[in-house]
Amino acid sequence: MNRCNSDDKYMEPHHGIRTTAIHGGEYPDPGHRGTSPNLVMTTTFLADTHAPFSVEEMQEDAPYFYTRWANPTVRQLEEKLANLECGEASVAFASGMAAISSLFQYWLKPGDHLVVSNVTYAATAEMINEFLPRQGIQITKVDSSNLSEVEKAMEPRTKLVFIETPCNPILRLSNLSRIAQIAHKVGAELAVDSTLATPIATQPLKLGADYVVHSLTKYMCGHGDAIGGALIGNQKKLETFRQQFAIRNGGVLSPFNAWLIMRGIATLPLRMHAHQEGAMKVSQFLQNHNKVKQVCYPGLSSHPDYELAKTQMHNFSGMLTFQLKNHRANTVERLCESLRIFHYAVSLGHHRSLIFYLPTEQLQASSFHLSKKALKDYRKYAGDGIFRISVGLEDPEDLCEDLDRALTKA
Ligand SMILES: Cc1ncc(COP(=O)(O)O)c(C=O)c1O
Repeated sequence: MNRCNSDDKYMEPHHGIRTTAIHGGEYPDPGHRGTSPNLVMTTTFLADTHAPFSVEEMQEDAPYFYTRWANPTVRQLEEKLANLECGEASVAFASGMAAISSLFQYWLKPGDHLVVSNVTYAATAEMINEFLPRQGIQITKVDSSNLSEVEKAMEPRTKLVFIETPCNPILRLSNLSRIAQIAHKVGAELAVDSTLATPIATQPLKLGADYVVHSLTKYMCGHGDAIGGALIGNQKKLETFRQQFAIRNGGVLSPFNAWLIMRGIATLPLRMHAHQEGAMKVSQFLQNHNKVKQVCYPGLSSHPDYELAKTQMHNFSGMLTFQLKNHRANTVERLCESLRIFHYAVSLGHHRSLIFYLPTEQLQASSFHLSKKALKDYRKYAGDGIFRISVGLEDPEDLCEDLDRALTKA
């Protein structure tokens, strides 16, 4: 059942994304009728005396049994995520990396071929470079913004294509509907890490993708206080995956984090609107600053993938990068010493604005290991290094003033 066409009480086809973010998947507790979703902090549930002990014998309609198998709070979040991404089902994880590594471990077996963007979140890139080859997985890394490169990489044994768009940290975009067609032509499936876009900007399943993964830690939660992840896709495949792998692998989301993330998602559409507005103002301010060499934001017409961003993203999100004209050895220290609002910290998508410096050589050595040509393409977006900004929900004018003061001292 496609959730966007479901007859679910809260999911009439005409319901908009704001209604879905609030009501999707949630239900009042039938006992006390509190309208907020119940936070069910229990590891185990009273069992039927004939209940089987092994997950092998778990029936689809089995009552709650043990929280690693399923939990009512986590289930409500999973339903909400499926609703938001127009998917049939979702499985929540303890982190975004738990979702991504589970996807690779379950869907790829020795001898399978994976086509993957050559720039992804660093831990994903490290897993692809270091862990997957040890499992006998064949890997071809591509610049996924270049469709002919993707097409050339496909082989009859290609099982999965994995794309991140916009990709972290350089914010390069990939054309999802075209890549879905390319993947499906050889019988491969497409998985998309849509953490930076969120369903407010892009719904990859509607563009032909087979799976969406999220680090819920970022925009979905939105407040920098809970780590989580999710995989969204086809009901039958995800239920088999849950039973055969996720429950045994064990990296499940805690009900408390599920509850926090669910509360965050209720305001996701409104927050994304404000993130976009702030990021646009900050990127325009930086673009006109005499110390700044280059700004990269998908909402600026100067972004190399702006034409695709306009069609594929209904919201340009809150992430941007910039490079300085004169970057000296102590620039990062000097800049950060003067910042009063921005926090110098990793992560993204929170209500607080965050900034972090990512030197190209260091990332190349630790995580990406790009070919000479791929590194040259990377440098078009990132030069020798970028400041990555996650624009929060503060007044954009205050953020510009904070950056101006710091840039003057840098
Ligand atoms: C695009 C992207 N995917 C996945 C992850 C991993 O998420 P988590 O930290 O929740 O494991 C991150 C973390 O920054 C990310 O930016």
